[in-house]
Amino acid sequence: MATRHPGGLAVRGLKVVFDRGAPVLDIGRLDVGSGEQVAITGPSGCGKTTLALALSGIQPVQEGQVRWNGQDVAGLGEGARDRWRRRHVGMIFQDFHLVPGMSVLRNVLAASYFSTWRPAAPVVARAAELLEQCGVP
Ligand SMILES: Nc1ncnc2c1ncn2[C@@H]1O[C@H](COP(=O)(O)OP(=O)(O)O)[C@@H](O)[C@H]1O
Ligand SMILES: [Mg+2]
Repeated sequence: MATRHPGGLAVRGLKVVFDRGAPVLDIGRLDVGSGEQVAITGPSGCGKTTLALALSGIQPVQEGQVRWNGQDVAGLGEGARDRWRRRHVGMIFQDFHLVPGMSVLRNVLAASYFSTWRPAAPVVARAAELLEQCGVP
């Protein structure tokens, strides 16, 4: 395991329940230090996606805390979670969610369109540079 840096993720008493059933997630304590890399594995239906969505503030949680660098994301309202996620989370989904009819470059820039319809020139240049690095000029 990598060296621990300050900050990171601290989960406490996390419960996610669907349809008032038994909790899909019930995690007493989980700590991940800043800079650590973690892989979550398990059979289909065990809750991996639900965990990823809860940790990134997409999935509302019924109980517990999800603290990133001290900020309890689980305690925020939906709008505040969305704003926090936009600033702090990068996520690659199982389904790519590419927008058909938009160019490759515009798909890479898609997240920036939530702030402005005309991304600044350095942002567009950075997107093009990343595509070039991936061999998709
Ligand atoms: N939106 C939902 N509503 C009801 N049940 C759900 C929902 N999302 C997931 N579940 C249930 O929660 C459990 C965990 O699902 P999921 O997190 O997708 O597992 P995994 O990603 O490990 O395959 C499954 O039993 C699934 O049917
Ligand atoms: Mg899944």
